[in-house]
Amino acid sequence: MDAIRGRVPTKAKHWWRLTLLAALLYSLLLFNRPDPTTRTLPGADGSNFAKVKARCQYLARKAGPPSDFHERVHSDRYVPGTRATLITNAKIWTGNHDGTEVVHGDILLDRGIIVAAGRVQNSTIQYYKDIDIIDVHGSWVTPGIVDMHSHVGDSPSPELNGAADDNSEKGPIQGWLRSLDGLNTHDDSYSLSISGGVTTALVLPGSANAIGGQAFAIKLRKTNERSPTSLLLEPPYTINNSFPDYNAPPRWRHLKQACGENPSDVYSMTRMDTMWAFREAYNKARQIKEAQDAFCTKVLDGEHKNLGQFPDDLKWEALVDVLRGKVKVHTHCYEAVDLDDLMRLSNEFKFPIAAVHHASEAYLVPEVLKSGYGHPPAVALFATDARYKREAYRSSEFAPRILAENGFSVAMKSDHPVQNSRYLLYEAQQAFYYGLPDNLALASVISTPARILGLDHRIGHIKEGWDADIVIWDSHPLALGATPSQVFIDGIPQLKLAHMVMKPGSFQAVPKVPNFDKEAAAAVEYEGLPPLGTTKAPSAHVLFTNVNSLVYRDDGDIHEVALASTSGLGIVLVRDGVVECSGAEARCTDALLAAPSVEIIDLKGGSISPALVSFGSPLGTEEIASEDSTNDGLVYDPFISKVPDIVGGDQTLIRAVDGLAFGTRNALLAYRAGVTSAITAPSHAAFYGGLGTAFSLCASHKLQDGAVIQEIAGVHVSIRHFENGPSVSTQIATLRRLLLESPGGETGHWFKEAAQGAIPLVVEAHSADIIATLILLKKEVEQTRAVTVQLTITGASEAHVLAAELGQAGVGVILNPARPFPTLWEDRRILPGPPLTEHSAISKLLAHNVTVGIGVLESWDARNARFDLAWAALEAGGQISRKQAIALASSNVEKLLMGSVSSARTSDLVATQGGDLFEMSSKVVAIISPRQRSVELLL
Ligand SMILES: *[C@@H]1O[C@H](CO)[C@@H](O)[C@H](O)[C@H]1NC(C)=O
Ligand SMILES: *[C@@H]1O[C@H](CO)[C@@H](O)[C@H](O)[C@H]1NC(C)=O
Ligand SMILES: *[C@@H]1O[C@H](CO)[C@@H](O)[C@H](O)[C@H]1NC(C)=O
Repeated sequence: MDAIRGRVPTKAKHWWRLTLLAALLYSLLLFNRPDPTTRTLPGADGSNFAKVKARCQYLARKAGPPSDFHERVHSDRYVPGTRATLITNAKIWTGNHDGTEVVHGDILLDRGIIVAAGRVQNSTIQYYKDIDIIDVHGSWVTPGIVDMHSHVGDSPSPELNGAADDNSEKGPIQGWLRSLDGLNTHDDSYSLSISGGVTTALVLPGSANAIGGQAFAIKLRKTNERSPTSLLLEPPYTINNSFPDYNAPPRWRHLKQACGENPSDVYSMTRMDTMWAFREAYNKARQIKEAQDAFCTKVLDGEHKNLGQFPDDLKWEALVDVLRGKVKVHTHCYEAVDLDDLMRLSNEFKFPIAAVHHASEAYLVPEVLKSGYGHPPAVALFATDARYKREAYRSSEFAPRILAENGFSVAMKSDHPVQNSRYLLYEAQQAFYYGLPDNLALASVISTPARILGLDHRIGHIKEGWDADIVIWDSHPLALGATPSQVFIDGIPQLKLAHMVMKPGSFQAVPKVPNFDKEAAAAVEYEGLPPLGTTKAPSAHVLFTNVNSLVYRDDGDIHEVALASTSGLGIVLVRDGVVECSGAEARCTDALLAAPSVEIIDLKGGSISPALVSFGSPLGTEEIASEDSTNDGLVYDPFISKVPDIVGGDQTLIRAVDGLAFGTRNALLAYRAGVTSAITAPSHAAFYGGLGTAFSLCASHKLQDGAVIQEIAGVHVSIRHFENGPSVSTQIATLRRLLLESPGGETGHWFKEAAQGAIPLVVEAHSADIIATLILLKKEVEQTRAVTVQLTITGASEAHVLAAELGQAGVGVILNPARPFPTLWEDRRILPGPPLTEHSAISKLLAHNVTVGIGVLESWDARNARFDLAWAALEAGGQISRKQAIALASSNVEKLLMGSVSSARTSDLVATQGGDLFEMSSKVVAIISPRQRSVELLL
C-alpha cells in the first residue's frame, strides 16, 4: 500500500478530470433531453442495458461467500513471507458440532489458512523445506476469539478528548455512517486484546442513535499497511465503490441499531419517538426498494424503453439492503418493551434481526423474540455486568443458560471498552459457571459469534481451509485465568515472547461447576428480581461436615488449617456464629453432645474462608447507577461550585455513612458471593471526597446491630487530570495546605487527623507522576509533624512503576480495577501481566513489600471479588500464597482504609460447598457471622 500511495495523486487528478467530464455529459443528457420517445437514457442503450440488467439481477442475490470459497489456496489476508507453522500434540476444540468436538492432533498453518487439522501426514510436512514446528504437549488449542460487540478503534484507549468516534449526534437515523471511517489504528487495546486470545471484532457504531450506522468486522493484528482498511475482514465491496462489481456475490453487511434509553437520552425522545424514527426510515427505504423492484421487473422482462433511471439513493441504500436481507442487523435492545417494539418493526418491514445486544430481559420474553421476522435473533450478553440503568436492572447471570435452553444462539460480548475485551473469555467462563453448558460457553465467544456475523465459512472453527486464527492456551479455556501462550492471526504469531506461569494440572480439564437450577428458575419466576435475603440457621449450633480446609483471620494474619486427613474430610462446629471446634469428628464429640440441637451442612469437600471486603465502587450508596433517584448523589466540590454556607462552606467534610442505603441488590448479591462488608467513600466528581465508612452488606437498615462497622474509614480525595477541573498542581497545593495548615471546621479536624497518622489518608491517583509527588508530600508532612502518615493510593494504574519507592515509603496501594486497563492517559503505563509481562502489578508491588488491596469500579462487580482474587493468585504463578491472595480483599483493604483490621472475633467466614472460595466448582452456602452471632444460610 505504501508503494501505491506514492502514485495516488497523479491518478487521482486524472480520475477527477474524468469524473468532471462524465458529470458534464450526464447533465447534458438529462437536461437537454431529446425527444423522449427516441432518447436513450443512461443505462438503457445496448451496452448499458446489460449493466442495468446485471444490477437488477444482483438485487436478488443472497449475501455470503461464493460457492467456490473453499477452493482458495491462500487467504485474501495472507501476508507473503509468512512462515508455515505446524502445531503438534494439541487438544483441539474445533468449534464444530455445537462446540462438542475435541480432536487430538496437529494443525498445519500456511498461506493464512489452516491447511490441515487432525493427523497431519509426514508426507505433507516433508513438502515444506522450511517450517516452524511447535510441540504444544497436549495444550488446548481453539480458534481465535470473536468479539461481536466492540468499539475498539472508534472509542480508542487511552481515551483522549474528541477522539471518541463512535456516536454521531446528527440525528436518530444515521444508516449511512460507517464505523470504519473513525477506526483509529493506535488504540492500545489491539495488542492487549490479542493477548487475551481475541482475533476478530465487530466494530459497531455507538448506541446514541436509533440507527447508528454500518459496522465492520476487523482482525486485530497490526498490518504492514498500517491502515484501517487493511484490518477489515470481508468488507462489503461498497466500501470504496458505490457501484460494485455485480457479478461477485454480495458480502454480508452489518448495521447497528439501538432502542430504549440511549437514543432517547441523546435526542430527548421517548420510546414512541424512537420507534417512529425507525418506521419513517424503513418506510423510506421500502419505497426505494419497491421502485427498484418495479424498475427491475421491466428490465428483467427485457423492456428497454422508457425505463427512466435506476431508483437509488446513496443515503438510504444500506437500509434498502436491510430490506433485501443482505445486512446483519445488530440491535442494542434491553427491556421487554424494547424487544417487543423491535420484533414488530422487523415484521412490519420484513427483515430479520441478526442479534439483540445487551438484551437484559430477553430471557424473560423468549416468545417475543421468536416472533421476529424470518428467524429469532441471537442474543449477545454480558455475564454479570448489570443493574447500571433501569434497562439492565432485571439482568440475570442465568440468562445465557435460560436462553440456550430456549433454543437461542447465545454470544458473550465485551462492548469494549465498556468491558475490556482482553477478558472476553472470562464472560464465557462466568456464563459457564452459572449454568451454560461448556460446549456452548466456549462457542459463545468463538463459533457462535462467527456464525451470527456470517463469517463462519472462515473463522470460528478449526477446519481445513478456514483462516489460520489459532490460540494455544495454558489451561482449559474455561478454567479461570486461562491465558494464551501464542495467538496466530492469518497464520502470523502475535506474541513475541510469552511470559507464562505454571497452572495446576487440574486446570487442563473442563472445570466442574455448581448446580444453579433453583436460582435460574427463581430468576424467571420473579421477573429478574428474585429474593436475595438469607435465613438464619434455626439452631445456635451449626455443624459443617466434609470440610476440606479452614482458613481464618487472626487480626492481621490469615491462617490455613487443612482438615482433610487419611481418615477423610473434617468438620467445623460453629456456635452463635463463632467456630467452636474443628478437625476430625472425634475432636468435637464433647461439644456436639452438649448441643441441644445441631443444624448440619454438608460442604462436600468445600472450605471455610474469611469473608471479603469490597472497596472502590459506590456500593451501598446507589441502587441503579444512572438513576439519581436511587442514589446518594455527589458531594459538593469547592473547586466546581461554592459549597453553600448552610452546609458550612468548604469547612465541611461529608460522611459517606450518612448516605448509606442498605439492602441494594448489588450488596445482597455480593454478600451471597462471600463479600460481607464494604468500605465506601462519598461519591465525588473531582478532588473533594469526604469520609469513608465501613458497613455490613446483609443488614436491612442502619439501626440494625452491626450494620455500620466503622462509621469513619479514611479521609478520601482524588488527584487526577480532571476535565475542566483545577490543575494537578493546584490539587496537590490544596492537599498540602489541608495537611500542614489544618484550616478550621470538620475539614481541618479530619485532615489534621490524617496528617498526624490517626486516620488513613486515601488518595485516588493513577499516574506515576502524581503518585511520586504524593510520596514526597507524605515525607514533607512527616518531617514537619514528626509522625507517620498512613497514606493509601487507590486506582493506582501506574503504581508498579514506583513499586520500590512505595515499599520504602510505607505507602499502601489498592489496585482498582484489579486487572489494569489504559482507560485514560494517566493510566496508560499499565503492567499488563502474563502473557505480555512476567509480573502483574499485584505481584510486583507485593514483591516490594507494598501492602496491596484490590477494588472494583462498579457496584455490580463487587460480587466477583472471589474470582478476582483467584485470578490474581494464578497470575502471580505461585509467588503469592492463597493466604496472601485472600488478604488482598480482606485484611489488607481494612488496614489500608480503616487503619486497623477487624479482630478474629468480628470477622465473618464464608462456607463454600464443592470447593474453596477460589474454585469454580464451589458455591457459597453459608456465612458464619460472629457480628450477627449466627450462621446465615443461602441454600
Ligand atoms: C513421522 O515423522 C515422525 C518424526 O519425524 C516419526 O517419529 C514418525 O515415525 C513418522 N511417521 C510415519 C508414519 O512415518
Ligand atoms: C477496494 O477495496 C477492496 C477491498 O475490499 C480492495 O481489494 C480493492 O483493491 C479496493 N479498490 C480500490 C480502488 O482501492
Ligand atoms: C520485603 O520484606 C522481606 C521480609 O521482611 C525482606 O526480606 C525483603 O528484603 C523485603 N523486600 C524488599 C524489596 O524490600
